[in-house]
Formats: sequence, structure tokens, C-alpha cells
Amino acid sequence: MATIQLHDKKFVPYISEKEIDEAIASIAERINRDFEGKKPVFMGVLNGSFMFVSDLMKKITIDCELSFVKLASYHGTESTGMVNALIGLNDELTDRHVVILEDIVDTGKTLEYLLEILKTHDTASLSVVTLLLKPDVFKKKYPLQYVGKNIPNKFVVGYGLDYNELGRNLREIYQLADE
Ligand code: IMP
Ligand code: MG
Repeated sequence: MATIQLHDKKFVPYISEKEIDEAIASIAERINRDFEGKKPVFMGVLNGSFMFVSDLMKKITIDCELSFVKLASYHGTESTGMVNALIGLNDELTDRHVVILEDIVDTGKTLEYLLEILKTHDTASLSVVTLLLKPDVFKKKYPLQYVGKNIPNKFVVGYGLDYNELGRNLREIYQLADE
């Protein structure tokens, strides 16, 4: 197995390109069905979701719009729980079906913050897509309608996800190696 090094840490291959593609295909199939005729507004959460959003959108066959927002809560490999400001939310969302696209949900704090803001808009519906979920960490009450894959509580990088900004360009997902 090809171990890689990013900054001071080693990572091992964890989810292959093929497996990522299959998870995305199954999410896309459900979305194409559930939002047919509803012209949803997809909202990618930067930076981590850029690769996922790109690959997912290629499999969306219904009429839709796409925009991106940006917020941040992470430094290093542990959540600081500090969420900064939200950038980029200037579309008219009244009566629209808004679908948030996340790379990963860990504690769910980041998403909670975004949902609180979006709830103040009179959207027709609000749903969440995440490629990855750490169910052992996520203890929030709000629903996650579309989850690509549940993963254990271990730090991952690649496919848009970073470790202190390195690793976003990797085509597969890597997991922090055991010491
Ligand atoms: P939460 O607020 O704890 O749910 O964290 C959500 C954000 O933290 C995600 O959108 C990611 O940007 C980042 N994050 C959480 N877990 C990981 C991980 O294992 N690797 C890389 N980034 C992560
Ligand atoms: Mg993110």
C-alpha cells in the first residue's frame, strides 16, 4: 500500500476512486428522482466539497442551479468548534429547494451553523448531501438526507479534504495511519 506523507503525518489509502464514484452515482440517482421538476439550488460548501460537487454535478440530469458558500471550522486534525463567517450567500432562495453539498460531516457544527442561517430564508425545502459521515461523532438532531458513506472516527484526506491545506488534490481518500 502506498503510504503518503502530508506535513508531519502519514496516511494510507482508504476509499478508492471506484468506490467514491459508486457512492456518488447512487446519491445522484436519488437526487435526480427526488428533485425532478423542482429545479433545486445546489449549494456546495467550500473548500472541501469542490471535487465532490464537480463529480456529482456531472451525474445530475435534471434542471438545477449551483452556487458555493464558504465557512471554516477546522485547524489541524481536530475540530476547534469555531465557525467563522459565511461567505457567498447572495442568491434569492425564497421558495427554492435548497440542497447543501458537503464533503464530510464530523461533529456537525459547521452544518448546524449553515442550516440556522438558511432556515431564516423561506426555502421550499432544505436538505443535506454529504459524501462522508462520521456517525460516532455526529450527535446533532437534524436529518442528513443523503449520505455517501459512513466512516469511523478517523481523520481522512484527499478528494477535496485537506490536512492543513495539503491533500485536496488526491484522487482517492486516505486515512490517518496508526502510529
Ligand atoms: P464539523 O463541523 O465537525 O462537522 O466539521 C466539518 C468540516 O470539518 C468539514 O466540512 C471538513 O472541512 C472538516 N473535517 C471534518 N472531518 C475531517 C476529516 O476527517 N478530514 C478533513 N477535514 C475534516
Ligand atoms: Mg468542509
